[in-house]
Amino acid sequence: MKWFSVNPIVSRIKGGEEIIFRSLEEGDEINFGKFMAELSEDTKELFGPHPLTKEEAQKLCQQAKFSNTLRMVASNSKNEIVGYMVISYPLRESQLQRYENYDIDIIQGRDLCIAPCVSDAYQGKGLGSFMMKETIKIAQDLGAKHIILWQGTQKSNKRAVNYYKKFGFKINAEFERYGHTNYDLTLSLDD
Ligand SMILES: CC(C)(COP(=O)(O)OP(=O)(O)OC[C@H]1O[C@@H](n2cnc3c(N)ncnc32)[C@H](O)[C@@H]1OP(=O)(O)O)[C@@H](O)C(=O)NCCC(=O)NCCS
Repeated sequence: MKWFSVNPIVSRIKGGEEIIFRSLEEGDEINFGKFMAELSEDTKELFGPHPLTKEEAQKLCQQAKFSNTLRMVASNSKNEIVGYMVISYPLRESQLQRYENYDIDIIQGRDLCIAPCVSDAYQGKGLGSFMMKETIKIAQDLGAKHIILWQGTQKSNKRAVNYYKKFGFKINAEFERYGHTNYDLTLSLDD
């Protein structure tokens, strides 16, 4: 399986709406920009990897074919993008340094870090769960042994903490970053 090639996956969320989870493509520029621009400030504040702007969306779509970061999007029955999952091989130096203090063998090039974001109107409807279930399968297919979070999750973000715990992520420790107390959480994948 190629890193950048994942077949689209279809599922129904709470309420019965059909959602397609697929990789971001160059042609998504407008849709992806709209998704980002319409997120509330509260949601944007909880997502760490990059700014959530139309300009960023355009840049990421143009890079989609060449990037070593897999960007998956969820689109609804109107073909609007309503969810986004970053799945990244390159682990950051800051992540590796923190994990040196934990009893977990994180390996650059094998393990993955992720960052999810669901549009405000779709939060709490099972979309994040669908995206996580499929992300775990992708990680297993790619041979990862652990999934870690981009820069942890804010301790006060109870929804996200519950979400990760639901899928078996375990809290490693808390740390301070950009004025927030964050948790590192890790999912260990079975062989
Ligand atoms: C965190 C996020 C990805 C979860 O996705 P979601 O679609 O809202 O989550 P789901 O509806 O699939 O719910 C998954 C679990 O989260 C927890 N959860 C959902 N809504 C919750 C709420 N209002 N309060 C507490 N826990 C909640 C529950 O454990 C739920 O499982 P259950 O439905 O079996 O009880 C999404 O809410 C989001 O994008 N939030 C803003 C950005 C963000 O926080 N990203 C993560 C940064 S690390």
